[in-house]
Amino acid sequence: MISKATIDTVFETARVEEVIGDFVQLKRAGSNFKGLSPFSDERSPSFMVSPAKGIWKDFSTGKGGNSVKFLMEHSQFTYPEAIRYLANKYNIEIEETEQTDAEKAITDVRESMYLVSEFAKDYFHKTLLNTEEGQAIGLSYFKERGFTSETIKKFSLGYSPESWDALTKEALGKGYKLEFLEGTGLTIPREDRPFDRFKGRVMFPIQSMSGRVLGFGGRILTNDKKAAKYLNSPESEIYHKSKVLYGIFQAKQSIAKLNNCFLVEGYTDVIQFNQSGIENVVASSGTALTPDQIRLINRLTRNITVLFDGDAAGLRASVRGIDLILEEGMNVKVCTFPDGDDPDSFAKKTSYDDLVAYLENNAKDFIQFKASLLMDEAKNDPIKKADLIRDMVQSISKIPDRIQREVYIQECSRIMDISEQVLVSTLAQLIQKDVAEVAKKQKQEQKPFEVHRNQAPKNAGYSGGDPEDPRFGPPEDYPGEPGYANEATEKVDVLYRLERKIIEILLLYGNKTEEFEDVLMKTNDDGEIVNVTEMKTYKVFQRIYLSLQEDEVELANPLFRGIFNDLINYYLQNEKFSLEQYLMHLSPDYAQEVTDILMEDERLVMHNWEGQNIFPKTKQDTISQNVSETILTMRWYLVGRIIEELKNSISPEADNMESLMMIRDYNELTRAFSKKLGRVMSRF
Ligand code: CTP
Ligand code: MN
Repeated sequence: MISKATIDTVFETARVEEVIGDFVQLKRAGSNFKGLSPFSDERSPSFMVSPAKGIWKDFSTGKGGNSVKFLMEHSQFTYPEAIRYLANKYNIEIEETEQTDAEKAITDVRESMYLVSEFAKDYFHKTLLNTEEGQAIGLSYFKERGFTSETIKKFSLGYSPESWDALTKEALGKGYKLEFLEGTGLTIPREDRPFDRFKGRVMFPIQSMSGRVLGFGGRILTNDKKAAKYLNSPESEIYHKSKVLYGIFQAKQSIAKLNNCFLVEGYTDVIQFNQSGIENVVASSGTALTPDQIRLINRLTRNITVLFDGDAAGLRASVRGIDLILEEGMNVKVCTFPDGDDPDSFAKKTSYDDLVAYLENNAKDFIQFKASLLMDEAKNDPIKKADLIRDMVQSISKIPDRIQREVYIQECSRIMDISEQVLVSTLAQLIQKDVAEVAKKQKQEQKPFEVHRNQAPKNAGYSGGDPEDPRFGPPEDYPGEPGYANEATEKVDVLYRLERKIIEILLLYGNKTEEFEDVLMKTNDDGEIVNVTEMKTYKVFQRIYLSLQEDEVELANPLFRGIFNDLINYYLQNEKFSLEQYLMHLSPDYAQEVTDILMEDERLVMHNWEGQNIFPKTKQDTISQNVSETILTMRWYLVGRIIEELKNSISPEADNMESLMMIRDYNELTRAFSKKLGRVMSRF
């Protein structure tokens, strides 16, 4: 291993502009340096180096960092390789330190944190079952609550002894590192003597969907009013409270099998339900439900039954969670317990059959639930009744599915004794407000580039442009040098440029085989369904062709469309591509256009060649990125046009519900595209 001292010296010595200057031709620009991005083929410099800050930023790809990061990005160096390269460049002697076996084992921080948490879980569990203190205090407590040995084992319940540092000492003795004990919050750092976080508490390990121990909740056993009843692990690299559900590991199979999930508040509610024979239950652990938690359930079932404690105050605070569930497109039911009971206490005194029957008979949909909650107050008060109805419609507006919305509108109309028509128009108002908010948020987030709105066609459909239509001709100021920024940006026909770029890519790289990112749904180690990006090999022309086909899109400019179809056919029929031969086979107007496009690229290559011969290689490295960005930008643009059309179709007289819902969905999509584009490129 390279010593820390060497690394420090390297960072002190290396000058970012010298390091990068070896690969990129840099020109001074004020206190910074500017150059052409080595990560994308561009014609105007968007690559900046700040010697004062010691960093660089590539605005065309969004990449940036210090000298080491540049070498890692540009030359695919590992971190140590980059350090060695720099040490060599600046004649710094490399001091090596020996890495012990233990150190080698603990290279992955997260892995080490999981290991130490797993150890702690076993330690607490053994302490509960096998020590005198554990049995006398912890075990007897659990038995009193009615938990069987089987249940205690199933949830790996434990006990943390009343001692300054019992766990810390034991763990250190077994070779676990203090760093990770502290990182997971099991140990609290103190210069002279680090100590245990959990003392004299019964312990509830919090596990991931796949059963990995992420953290703990520890319940106090005394009636000390000042101390918190539960002490929980702090947020850490492995424990994010807002993303876990207590009991999901034990519940997942049952949830999937029974196609329903009971959601409760507390650890003990989960355990008591299990004890009663109901296993499809998880807890939000006393905090407001989050979208991440809902999605965790959504992977297993679309049906959630929220179980609320009997007290009314808590009830009202938790109704917001219901809207969140609806927003995820899930079905939600609500079941309350008699005053003074929570799921735990109710389950404890009720037989399995009675419990199941109770849940079945008392689960209400959210309309009924809200009505039952607020109807008493609202019955004789028109203002409160109006509020309640608005509240219900607000919830209905969160439901993505149209048919479901309709059903709930009917139900609300019936229960609240109000016409469906009024409800529908209220719903439309709410959705319109939503749309406006999303649009505003989006505007604030970013604008990859300006679109000239007037050039968006009024009628639907993207393909089949009219050759006479001036809209499809090249803009006056194209191709131009960077001059067309500022005001003129508005005038640039984005679509024209995108289509031209597609042709350019096809001509230059169409036959190249490249790796592309495909996003697939997969199940990971934790049994969670996640988006996985997989690298797949395509020929560039195949990738472009398939992507456009998937979007059911044809190029709008007739000239480009003609060349596009011709080129694709040519690639399909000829294994080898020779530009000369291809040009010979083209009709004169196509050939002229193709030459124009190619000459422009030639100029660019020549420009880039100045000084460095690193560019041609880099250029090829980013073909796949270039293709993906172009396609993504095209999608971004097309969706923007659809939104524009939808907006134009809205009239004050009609019921615009469907259009408004679609605008909302498309706005979401645009945001996703913008985000992705923001990652891969921040300007066009
Ligand atoms: N909780 C917490 N910290 C507290 C109180 C509560 O983290 N000081 C969380 C715990 O996850 C707890 C849940 O909120 O399980 C619900 O709280 P509560 O109903 O008070 O706890 P129960 O689990 O019902 O515990 P018990 O039945 O032992 O009182
Ligand atoms: Mn309780």
